[in-house]
Amino acid sequence: MPDFFEDVARKWKSFSGAQRSPRIDEEAVRSTYARWAPIYDVVFGAAFRAGRRAAVETVNQLPPGRILECGVGTGISLPYYDSAHRIVGIDLSPEMLDIARRRVEEAGLSNVEDLAVADAGDLPDPSDAYDAAVAMFVMTVVPDPKAVMSELIRVTRPGGAVVLVSHFPDQKGWRKWIGQKLAPISASIGWHTDFAVERILGRDELRLVERRRVGPLGFFTLLVFERL
Ligand SMILES: C[S@@+](CC[C@H](N)C(=O)[O-])C[C@H]1O[C@@H](n2cnc3c(N)ncnc32)[C@H](O)[C@@H]1O
Repeated sequence: MPDFFEDVARKWKSFSGAQRSPRIDEEAVRSTYARWAPIYDVVFGAAFRAGRRAAVETVNQLPPGRILECGVGTGISLPYYDSAHRIVGIDLSPEMLDIARRRVEEAGLSNVEDLAVADAGDLPDPSDAYDAAVAMFVMTVVPDPKAVMSELIRVTRPGGAVVLVSHFPDQKGWRKWIGQKLAPISASIGWHTDFAVERILGRDELRLVERRRVGPLGFFTLLVFERL
């Protein structure tokens, strides 16, 4: 009997056009998400919902402020934010942002200040421009995660928050097994399942405030940092 995960991966791969280990660069991200944009919410809406909710709930506990969401995608999380926050969303994919703009208009989300094409690894904003910066399910798909961390830190004011949700590989147990099985499927959205949490911990400019498992079966991790 064919392996379920391999079967799904084959179908997804033929849809997305992705290779098993695509090189992550800006062009690969753009072309991958141009294909996924029309069906992204249907395919990834529910699976990532708990992680998004956890991250935005963290942000909603902060005093009203200016929030940057990096890799905002189709804007699926935008309706969750407290209306007292002003939100700026950026993404590399114009197709994903088109859907986000439609969502903002249809839902009348007047607290969304701007949605713009930008590279999270090279943000156009001045330093200390935001009270919090959020990246959900983004660190594993960006071409240069270290540069993205540096930019999230740079644009967040001291005392502000940097909030991440991501999958980090488990070294043992059933989550490791599932992670390995999902690797080919993850590759179809340019997602690298071997992204180690150590790559974003240990920054001098951040203090880790919270780290907990979220989402289906605790497969994802919420990391909340204070910007020092
Ligand atoms: C897996 S999707 C996550 C979307 C959304 N945050 C969510 O919760 O569903 C990853 C998003 O990151 C965007 N992205 C990838 N690399 C990026 C970069 N360097 N700068 C900005 N956005 C990027 C992709 O275009 C895509 O919309």
